[in-house]
Amino acid sequence: MKQIARCIRRINGKRDGARRIGGEKRRAENAEQQQESKRGGFSHWIQADKNNRGPAAGATVPGLRAHECYDARVPAKKTRGRFITIEGLDGCGKSTQLGKLASVLRKDGINVLETREPGGTPTGERIRSVLLDSRTAGLSPRAEMALMFGARAQHVDEVILPALAEGTWVLCDRFTDSTEAYQGGGRKLGSAPVLALHKILCHNLQPDLTILMLSDVEASVARARRRNQQRVPSVALATGSQPADENRFEQESRAFFQRVAAAYKAIAKREPERVFAADARPAPDIVHREIVAAVRGRLMGGKGTSAQ
Ligand code: TMP
Repeated sequence: MKQIARCIRRINGKRDGARRIGGEKRRAENAEQQQESKRGGFSHWIQADKNNRGPAAGATVPGLRAHECYDARVPAKKTRGRFITIEGLDGCGKSTQLGKLASVLRKDGINVLETREPGGTPTGERIRSVLLDSRTAGLSPRAEMALMFGARAQHVDEVILPALAEGTWVLCDRFTDSTEAYQGGGRKLGSAPVLALHKILCHNLQPDLTILMLSDVEASVARARRRNQQRVPSVALATGSQPADENRFEQESRAFFQRVAAAYKAIAKREPERVFAADARPAPDIVHREIVAAVRGRLMGGKGTSAQ
């Protein structure tokens, strides 16, 4: 318990610095947006027709080619959505927290997409069932890592990037930090191949904010095991056949999960400006308030309605 508290203090100690970095980044983005709107959309050059369908038919605009005139009808640049990931050990309560955060952001009028890994696309969900099913025996650590990235590459291209481009905020239950913690740490493949594959396959896409839920290893894994046992499909119980499940990782040893937890802490220490470490042990509502405060402080300049 004391160890987790110490670790959270150490990791979050640099939060103020992170806010400053966030502030500079925002100022730079604002300046860029102002420049963009000055150049922007060429709208000050173009006479829209009375139905606001862009340049009047036959209008010519000095220095512009046709497709540029067409481009000028759409806003110069939509504000990109924010990408938030949530990480932690199995059973730490991250999915609950993701749902609660999504409701708060929606109340603020933000378009939110909740998604998860492995999964998030039809192909990714099929890969998920192979990866998590305890009937998948003898999968090598490298094959496991490759499948995680197969699902992720599809997820990034099919869902995450298009949503962010539309201005939607994407809340993702696990992302590449999970691969670094579970395959890099738990399976002992190391961080280097994970980060290299992320660059090659996922455009090196970085979350704007990662919420890392720090929990007791034993308590989390016991909770995940209980939860997954309750999910045994009734058809399988009736027929006595071995059902598909999501138990493969929960069967790992205590030492495996200790390595996963250590890898997560190392990531948080390496990237304090991106990773917010939350104490996952208090009641869900208390954890929720802490998470909402971090999101508002780091991504919204402290604005927004209350954490309900
Ligand atoms: P969850 O969606 O219930 O958290 O389960 C996903 C499981 O998959 C969990 O045990 C962690 C594991 N996992 C990895 O090992 N590597 C990864 O890259 C991801 C996304 C998940």
